[in-house]
Amino acid sequence: MCGIIGYIGKNNSLPIVLNGLKKLEYRGYDSSGMAYLKDKKINIIKKEGKIKNLESILPNDNSNIAIGHTRWATHGKANTVNAHPHNVGSVTLVHNGIIENYQEIKAFLEEKGYSFQSETDTEIVAGLIDYYYNLDKDPFVTLNRLKDEVRGSYALVIMFNDIEKLYAVRYKSPLIVGINDGEYYLASDVPAILDYTKKYFLLDENEICVLDRDGYTVLNNNLVVEKEIKEFNDNISSVYKDGYEHFMLKEIHEQPKVVDNLISLILNRDTIDLLDYKNIQIVACGSAYHTGMVGKYLIEKYLNIKVDVYVASEYRYGKIFYDDKTLFIAISQSGETADTLASLMLAKSHGIKTLGIINTVGSSIAREVDEVLYINAGIEMAVATTKAYVLQVLMFSLLVYKSLVNNNLINDKEKDIIFNEFKNLGDVLEKILEQDYSLLVDKLYNKENIFFIGRQVDYALCMEASLKLKEISYIHSEAYEAGELKHGTISLISDNTPVIGIVTDGDISEKTISNIKEVKSRGAYVLLVVNEKINVSDDIYDDIITISDGSDFIKPILTIVPLQVLAYYIALSRGCDIDKHRNLAKSVTVE
Ligand code: G6P
Repeated sequence: MCGIIGYIGKNNSLPIVLNGLKKLEYRGYDSSGMAYLKDKKINIIKKEGKIKNLESILPNDNSNIAIGHTRWATHGKANTVNAHPHNVGSVTLVHNGIIENYQEIKAFLEEKGYSFQSETDTEIVAGLIDYYYNLDKDPFVTLNRLKDEVRGSYALVIMFNDIEKLYAVRYKSPLIVGINDGEYYLASDVPAILDYTKKYFLLDENEICVLDRDGYTVLNNNLVVEKEIKEFNDNISSVYKDGYEHFMLKEIHEQPKVVDNLISLILNRDTIDLLDYKNIQIVACGSAYHTGMVGKYLIEKYLNIKVDVYVASEYRYGKIFYDDKTLFIAISQSGETADTLASLMLAKSHGIKTLGIINTVGSSIAREVDEVLYINAGIEMAVATTKAYVLQVLMFSLLVYKSLVNNNLINDKEKDIIFNEFKNLGDVLEKILEQDYSLLVDKLYNKENIFFIGRQVDYALCMEASLKLKEISYIHSEAYEAGELKHGTISLISDNTPVIGIVTDGDISEKTISNIKEVKSRGAYVLLVVNEKINVSDDIYDDIITISDGSDFIKPILTIVPLQVLAYYIALSRGCDIDKHRNLAKSVTVE
C-alpha cells in the first residue's frame, strides 16, 4: 500500500522514477509525486489522481537523484497537498506505512516552531528528521533515533538538501535495494526496477541504507552488514500486459500454465503432512481468506482435522486457543499484508508452528514463517487477484491429496483419478477460457444488486465470486449461505433481482436447489452455476453455466474461473477501470 521508489546513478532519474511508479501503481493511485535534486536544489512535483496526471506535468528536466511515491491515502484526503514527497526544512521524503504517534510528535514539533501544510503523518516524520538532523548533523545518528521515537510502520526514502545521497530505513513496511552498474534503486517491490536490473537485496527491519553514485552501505545497529544479493529469476513479462487490455484478463488467461507448473512442482517434492496436526488455524485477508475457506472444507472433509479460518484483522485482537498440535497457516499473495503479518507474529509468540502459503518470494511473511510454500504465480499486477487465488486453492488441494497419499488413506484407484485430474487441469481450464459469456454479461452488467448463494464449499466460492464482481464493477453484491437467505435478506428479492446460485457439491445440492426455488418463486432472475452431474429441472433457472465434473480437489477451481471471467466482462461493460478500482490497493501494508 503506497509505492515508493528512489534512484541515484548516471542516468536521468525522472523517467526512471516515473516508470517505476507506473509499475507500483497497483499499490495505490490516489495521488503521486516526485522530488529530484538539481544544482543543490530540491524540486517537487505532485498531483492528485493516477500517475498519468503526474506524467502530464513532469518537467523536461535532468537530474541523477530522485524519489517518487504513489499514494493510497490513510491520513488526509487524496489531494495534491497531501501527496508525497513531503518537505520540511532540509528533509524531503516519501513514506509507505502509518505513523501511529504522529499527533504527539506534531505537538512536540509545533512547540519547537514547526508548522505543517498537509494532513499527513508523513510530513510530521519529515519534520522530526529535520529537527534531529539539525542537532545531530549526521543522517545515520538521526535515522537511528526513529526506532525509539516513532510508533507504527514505515519504509522511508529520504533526501537531505545538502547531501547528494539517498537514505532509506524501514520498519514493518517492505523495501528493496536494486543494483545495476553505477546505478542504485530503492523500491517497495521488484516490479519497479525490473526494466533496469534483476539484482536486488531486501532491507531488514531497522536497517539504514545509504546510496550514492559509487555504491551502497547498510547499517544495522551501527554495524555495517553484508547483504545477500538476489537475482529475480521469474519471467519479467509478468509486469507487461502483453497485448491484453488489462492485467486482470492476462492473469486469468495465465491460469492454465501456472496451475500446471505448481502441480508438477508440489507433486515432486516433500511438503508438510497436515496429518501431523490436530487442529489448524488459517489466517488471511480478502480473497486469501476465501481460499482458506476452501482449504477448511477440504481438510475437514478428507483429513478429519478441525480447521478454523480467521480474517487476520480479527485474529490479531482475539483470544487464541492452541496446543502443541496446532498449525497456523498464513495465506498471502503479497506476503506483506499488515494484519496477516501481525497475526503470524502473535501465533509465533505463543510458539505455534507456522506455515505460509505465499506468492512473493522473500516477503516479510515468507521470511517469518517456520515453513513456506510458494505458489509461484509470478508477479500479479491486477489489484483483483485471480491467478494467486486459484493457486492458493490448488495448494490446499495438493497438500490434502499428498497427506492422504502419504498416510495410505486413499486407494490406488482414487489416487489415480485425482492424479490424472491434476495432470489435465491446465487443459481443462484452457477449454473453460474459450467459452463466451457475452449473453450473460448483457443481462447482468446494468444491475445494481446481485446475490450469490451456495452452501459449504459453494458458499466459499460465492464469497470470492461476489467480491470479485463488486470490487471491479461497483455492483453491490452479497454472498449468502443459501439456507440463511430466508432470515432477512430474502425480503430484498423481488422481480428480476439477480441471484447467482452455485451448486457443485452433490451431497447438499438438493438443499441449495430448494433455496433457489424459493427465490425464483419470488421473481428472482436466477443464473445457475452447476456441476454437470447434478440434475436440475429447467424451470428453476433463467440461465445456466455448466461446470464440467471433477473431484472436490479441482471442482472449486473449475467453478471460480468462469465467474472471474464474468466479473471481468461485466466491469468492462460498465466502463470501469479494471486494474485500478476505486479506493483499493493490492498490497495492504497498513492496519
Ligand atoms: C487486498 C487485495 C486482495 C487480497 C488481499 C490480501 O485487499 O486487493 O486481492 O486478497 O489484499 O492480500 P494478500 O497479499 O495478503 O493476499
